Amino acid sequence: MRLPAAVALVTGGGSGIGRGIAERFAQEGGRIVIADRNLAGAEETARKITELGGEALAIESDVADAEAVRRMADRARAAFGPVTHLVNNAAISRGNDVETIEPELWDLNLAVVLRSVFLCTKAVLPGMIADRRGVIVNIASVNGLFGIGEEPYSAAKAGVINFTQNVAVKYGRHGIRANVICPGTIRTPIWGDRLAEQPDVFERLAAWYPLGRVGEIEDVANAAVFLASAESAWVTGVVLPVDGGLTAGSYRMSRALVGDSDSG
Ligand SMILES: NC(=O)c1ccc[n+]([C@@H]2O[C@H](COP(=O)([O-])OP(=O)(O)OC[C@H]3O[C@@H](n4cnc5c(N)ncnc54)[C@H](O)[C@@H]3O)[C@@H](O)[C@H]2O)c1
Repeated sequence: MRLPAAVALVTGGGSGIGRGIAERFAQEGGRIVIADRNLAGAEETARKITELGGEALAIESDVADAEAVRRMADRARAAFGPVTHLVNNAAISRGNDVETIEPELWDLNLAVVLRSVFLCTKAVLPGMIADRRGVIVNIASVNGLFGIGEEPYSAAKAGVINFTQNVAVKYGRHGIRANVICPGTIRTPIWGDRLAEQPDVFERLAAWYPLGRVGEIEDVANAAVFLASAESAWVTGVVLPVDGGLTAGSYRMSRALVGDSDSG
């Protein structure tokens, strides 16, 4: 067991990566609070955990709403005691072109992706400070590291990276660690619409990844367990790409430089 005595709050735990992290944390001994706008998804995750003998609570919550987040944190505390581990994972991505994105859509992305991380962190910090321990794992994206479109989502993810670094340096003295994972393409339900339009999207994207495949939920969950556990006790403020080498550089470009015509 790598997370004994953990009380972990996983936002967006009703689907995809959040569900995978919730299940892994439960297997490692944590009691899990799953907060999601989609209650049915959160309950399904909780059911899977309890079926395997774990403890979990599903809460319906919009993590962009300050009052809803306060209520969510209160319910989590009432059920299992102070939250020791926070995984800020819930997100949406809407809009992919500055010329067509309306200000309201920009604000929606910023609220769900970035404001939510601030709100949830603010809600659990006092308990972590009082306990002199706490672990925060934020799920950003490679989109926050360089320009590959989805402007509002990507700008918000860049904000999540910087926010995590500030939390790490300000609250380290209280025994709190904060790190951020930047996944590359991960096979989850978030890809549903694009997959319906382009059934071979993962195969085409795989060609960009040095490791020759897109990621799986377990790839991110494994990194999250490491960052949540005592194995990373002296790791804070780290930006960890879990991206099959995507942001390490471009083999395609290096081949083009030497005139390799097969560089595509
Ligand atoms: N899948 C990928 O390729 C990929 C790549 C990089 C980063 N990420 C990041 O990983 C995280 C998880 O993504 P996923 O692929 O598992 O997506 P997903 O759509 O499968 O799951 C996201 C969950 O967040 C919930 N959610 C959305 N808005 C919410 C809100 N306002 N309040 C509460 N819950 C809300 C959804 O209901 C859903 O259950 C996100 O932060 C995403 O940006 C995903």
